Amino acid sequence: MKITLNPSKKQGKISKYIYGQFAEHLGRCIYEGIYVEDSDIPNVNGMRCDVVNALKELNIPVLRWPGGCFADDYHWRDGIGDKDKRPYMVNTNWGGVVENNHFGTHEFFELCEQLGTEPYICGNVGSGTVQEMRDWIEYMTFDGDSPLANERRKNGREKPWKLKFFGVGNENWGCGGGMRAEYYADEYRRYATFIRNYGDEPVYKIAGGPNEADTHWMETLMAEVRNMAAGISLHNYTYETDWNNKGSATAFDEKGWYDVMVNSIKMDKVISIHKEIMDKYDEENKVDLIVDEWGNWFNVEVGTNPGFLYQQNTMRDAVSAMLILHIFHKHCDRVKMANIAQMVNVLQAMILTEGEKMVLTPTYHVFKMMKGHMDAEKLQLDYESGNINHEGTEIPKVSVSASEKDGTITVSMCNLSLDEDEEIELNIEGGQFTTANGEFLTASYMNDCNTFDAPDTVSPKNLDVTLDGTTMKLTLPKMSAAAVTLK
Ligand code: AHR
Repeated sequence: MKITLNPSKKQGKISKYIYGQFAEHLGRCIYEGIYVEDSDIPNVNGMRCDVVNALKELNIPVLRWPGGCFADDYHWRDGIGDKDKRPYMVNTNWGGVVENNHFGTHEFFELCEQLGTEPYICGNVGSGTVQEMRDWIEYMTFDGDSPLANERRKNGREKPWKLKFFGVGNENWGCGGGMRAEYYADEYRRYATFIRNYGDEPVYKIAGGPNEADTHWMETLMAEVRNMAAGISLHNYTYETDWNNKGSATAFDEKGWYDVMVNSIKMDKVISIHKEIMDKYDEENKVDLIVDEWGNWFNVEVGTNPGFLYQQNTMRDAVSAMLILHIFHKHCDRVKMANIAQMVNVLQAMILTEGEKMVLTPTYHVFKMMKGHMDAEKLQLDYESGNINHEGTEIPKVSVSASEKDGTITVSMCNLSLDEDEEIELNIEGGQFTTANGEFLTASYMNDCNTFDAPDTVSPKNLDVTLDGTTMKLTLPKMSAAAVTLK
């Protein structure tokens, strides 16, 4: 397959926030996965050192918290102050377990500081109040003399935190209150009014947007709240078949592999549908599309709590993640943030833990490989990849995306085929490069994953690349994801 790349043909900036993450009070994501108390597992202020160190390698730009559905059941005051005195609650969304509120606002900002990531907090519209939300913002971000800012100081934080991204509710059409679009739009306007700017930078307010292709929800928000929202969220998960038939994360056949590829590509269609509506109301492209929940959602691992959403992660997840990240690149004019669900031990996670053990998933490796795209200029690529016909649906055999930042070009590519390697010849127009370094991820079997006994079954290897100045050649193995850096 021949690809032509011209470094002068730029197509817009790929926002680094597309590589964002999401951590909810769900299952073993926060507790055990990230935060351990009174534990022999090495930690700094409760944050697991192994997990934090591995995540730091990803340069995570933004982290969404505390939910998800949990956000609209969360009352921030329960999670501040002396831990022994914090009230506990039952996490009714996720497994009915006791939530002791020991990981709260201060702990979340501590995690963000350790990771070097920007916080994105989702507030409670469904069961909260306007006052509760406005007070939380003041507590976190006001530098002056006020009862709330002084309470923060009393709880150990003198200076306000920097908080840019704030979500006004989550899935308010469902777990966030079962609202109609019209009702939520009015509620959004009321809540958003009281989100004051205490810091130097205005709060970037994100309205709770549609599920998948719910055009009525998007149309209503664009009509009613576009002047009061910096972004509108979109949730779009990928299943093997659909919500009622999610499939197994590991026990799938060839059909299951290609079904997930077909369903991953649907992200392109869903974004395009919403962009059309957004363009109609907002020609100047002022309102961003924030895909703040996405990823593969399969049946929980056999024997685990169904409310914990714990699933393994295979080569299929790695290829699907790259495909979808390429779709975000394609729509980089409107998609300015995306947060994969979720960071540790839940859904399409970066990391799985069991006691003191930790494994990095194939999806983790893809995120690490693609770091070069963050805040880089997307480059035009011309190529014909050929298609795979899966039960009457055509999907590309190979997906490629390229970007340039500070003179370095990153090219990421994945081969969806289960049986054919692909010979790649990339011709660079008007540019001379002297070094090309690449790595790739593949596996012996499509179902291969990293387990606590065999943590490196799916791990990156060096990719053989030849470069003669303007032509780069490589073999992209079947069912693989790869990235090359050209300098
Ligand atoms: O990520 C798991 C759940 O999926 C989130 O809590 C919710 O927002 C979505 O339905």
